[in-house]
Formats: sequence, C-alpha cells, structure tokens
Amino acid sequence: MTKNILVTGGAGYIGSHTVVELIQHGFNPIVLDNFSNSRPSVIDSLEEITQQKIISVTGDCRDAAVYDLIFSKYKIDAVIHFAADKAVGESVQNPLKYFDNNLNGLMVLLAAMERHDVKHLVFSSSCTVYGNPDNVYVDENSPLKSPESPYGFTKLVGEQMLDNMVRHGKKMRVVLLRYFNPIGAHPSALIGERPQGIPNNLLPYITQTALGIRAELSVFGNDYDTIDGTCVRDYIHVCDVADAHVSALTLLSASPDSCIEAINIGTGKGTSVLEIIRIFERETGVSLNWKFAPRREGDVPEIYAKADKALHTLNWKATYSVSDAVKHAWEWEKKTQN
Ligand code: NAD
Ligand code: UD1
Repeated sequence: MTKNILVTGGAGYIGSHTVVELIQHGFNPIVLDNFSNSRPSVIDSLEEITQQKIISVTGDCRDAAVYDLIFSKYKIDAVIHFAADKAVGESVQNPLKYFDNNLNGLMVLLAAMERHDVKHLVFSSSCTVYGNPDNVYVDENSPLKSPESPYGFTKLVGEQMLDNMVRHGKKMRVVLLRYFNPIGAHPSALIGERPQGIPNNLLPYITQTALGIRAELSVFGNDYDTIDGTCVRDYIHVCDVADAHVSALTLLSASPDSCIEAINIGTGKGTSVLEIIRIFERETGVSLNWKFAPRREGDVPEIYAKADKALHTLNWKATYSVSDAVKHAWEWEKKTQN
C-alpha cells in the first residue's frame, strides 16, 4: 500500500528535492508549508518534474488545527519535519522567532502526532550540533557542543527533546539526520536553492556573483589552519540529501517501537572555499570576481562527516560529486534569474 508521508516545509530547498525522491520511490507526500521562505510556484515545478499532482496544504506548523485536518483526511504513516527558520545571523538578532518556529513548531507537531497516533519521524538536524569540534572528522558519537547561534541551539534542543521523549519510554521511532552542507539543485534545473535577499551561504553567493547580481565574493578568512588557509566543509548534493530521507523512512519501518538514531549526512570529504571557487570556474568556464576578507564570526575552521553510519544503517551514500553539485547550482541560478 502507498505510504502517506507528511512533509513539513516541503516547498523549501531540501524539502522540495525530497518530495521528488519520495514520489520516485512510490511514496505519497503531503506537503505542509506556509511559504515563509519559499514560493507556491515550487509546487508547480514539482508537478512538472514528477508529472504528478502534488498534495499541498498551505498552513503553519505551529497551528494544531492544520495537523488535525491533515491527519484526519489522510492516514499519515510518517512525518519528515523540515519546516524551520535557518538564517544564522537573523537568529542572533531575533532568537525568539527561532525558539517559536523551530522549537514550538516541533512541539505542536509532536502533540499532533500523539493525538493521531503517528509514530515515525525524520527530523532535520545539522552538523551545527557538533559546534567547533576537536576532531574535524566527526562521527555521531562526537561530543555535542554549545551552539554558536540561537539557530544552532534550536537544532540541538530539538534533538534533545526527541531523545528525552524516547529515552523515557515514548513509543516513537525517530531518525535525526544531521546534514552537513547541502548544495546544488535538481538536474532538471526546475527546483533549487532560492535565498531571500543577499545570500549567506557560499554557493548561492558564488552563482549570483558569477551572474553579476553581486559585485564580488568575499572569502571569509585566509589564515585558518587548513589546507590553504580557508575554511573546509563537507559539501553534499541536495539530491543525495533528499535520497537519505527515503532510506530513513525504510529504517523507521524496520526499527523497534521506541528508538532514536542520529545519522550524519555528508560525503566524508572536505573541500575548502578556494577549492570550491576553482571547481566552479573549471566547471562553468566563468571567472569569478573574489577577494579575501576578514574571518566571519562564528565560523568553524574545518568540519566534515564520518558517514559510515549512514552506509551501515541506511545503506546510503552520496552519489554526486561536488563538481556535479556546482554545475547544477549554476544551471539553476541561470534559469531562475532569466
Ligand atoms: P528552507 O527555508 O528552504 O525550507 C524550509 C521550508 O519550511 C520553507 O519552505 C518555509 O516556507 C517552510 N516553513 C518555515 N516555517 C514554517 C512554518 N512555521 N510552517 C510551515 N512551513 C514553514 O530550508 P532548507 O534549507 O530546505 O532546510 C530544511 C531543514 O533542514 C531546516 O530545518 C533546516 O534548519 C535544516 N538544515 C538545513 C541546512 C542547509 O544548509 N540548507 C543544513 C542543516 C540543516
Ligand atoms: C552555515 C551555518 C550553519 C547552517 C548552514 C546552512 C554559520 C556559522 N553556519 O554553515 O549553521 O546549518 O549555513 O544554512 O553561519 N563563505 C565565504 N563567503 C561567503 C559565504 C560563505 O567565504 O560569502 C565561507 C564561509 O566562511 C564558510 C563556507 O564558505 O567557510 C561555507 O559557508 P556557508 O555556506 O555559510 O555554510 P556554513 O558556514 O558551513
């Protein structure tokens, strides 16, 4: 029987790519999004890619009544909870916005799942829970650190709330996916990352600079103790991240009644900012205008994932290269700005 999956934030960057994967794997996604950081036209693009009608509910994840509507109308087998605010800088300016949307939103969802006896949850977490790690090659047992921002705090506390519930006997099956640095776009160039205003993240800044929307990329810091002095991250194609959610649903189906697993979603390989610039220039033939700038506050010098647990428990590993991701990001940016 086709499984119904509630995808909160399903019109967003990672959510939309996951909706495509879910459909391609025979699931029936039900998108819940308030479009606070996405556009309704994403749903049209999803229909174009999948050639299928997408069930989409416009509503807020902090609204208990919306869940009652959805859970009553569809027999939901599992929830993938993407919906959250994610701008690190904004979270420093306005922590309450983040506590409300990311933590209150999670609590309202959990209460609704309890009311409607839905027990399977995939939660979007982040490598930010490792803070600035002592060992840069982090596995799931690496210590969780005090986060650098209120955004990071909400991810850590979200994880801890779920862990606490399961450890105290709540019959729930939870997978916490700790994404490293998702980049790229769907190969169709119909969906991708669309930041509002000036991008904070590296890849959108690069593609917008290459198109002349931004004058120049600032490379934050060149004196870190890394391969070339710039920060190193584990960049992973967003379609690989999306695919991990399908594997997580399979794991949940085969898990004991009460369980929680944290799993890194990364490639296991680090790439520096300068390397990304070189890859971009090589793959696109476009020369990028960039300069060195002071370090960005709160940046971790180097972090990448030990991804063995994902391979063993999810039978998942990344299939795209950073070059693929950069190319796809570029194709998407060109199409979006046309
Ligand atoms: P995104 O902003 O593109 O997507 C989030 C979606 O949720 C948007 O469509 C937004 O409109 C929606 N949303 C937000 N608040 C809502 C609410 N109260 N009710 C209904 N819909 C709401 O972000 P993303 O990059 O796709 O991230 C998805 C998840 O993954 C987030 O939880 C984020 O914290 C986490 N994450 C993202 C990254 C990354 O680099 N993109 C890294 C680690 C973790
Ligand atoms: C950031 C957040 C992280 C969040 C993730 C996804 C911080 C400190 N961390 O991760 O919590 O989960 O985004 O939203 O904000 N860079 C430049 N110039 C730029 C932009 C970035 O040099 O214009 C560098 C950064 O210094 C960093 C690397 O590129 O070394 C990647 O930056 P970014 O894409 O913002 O991701 P993170 O900082 O890893």
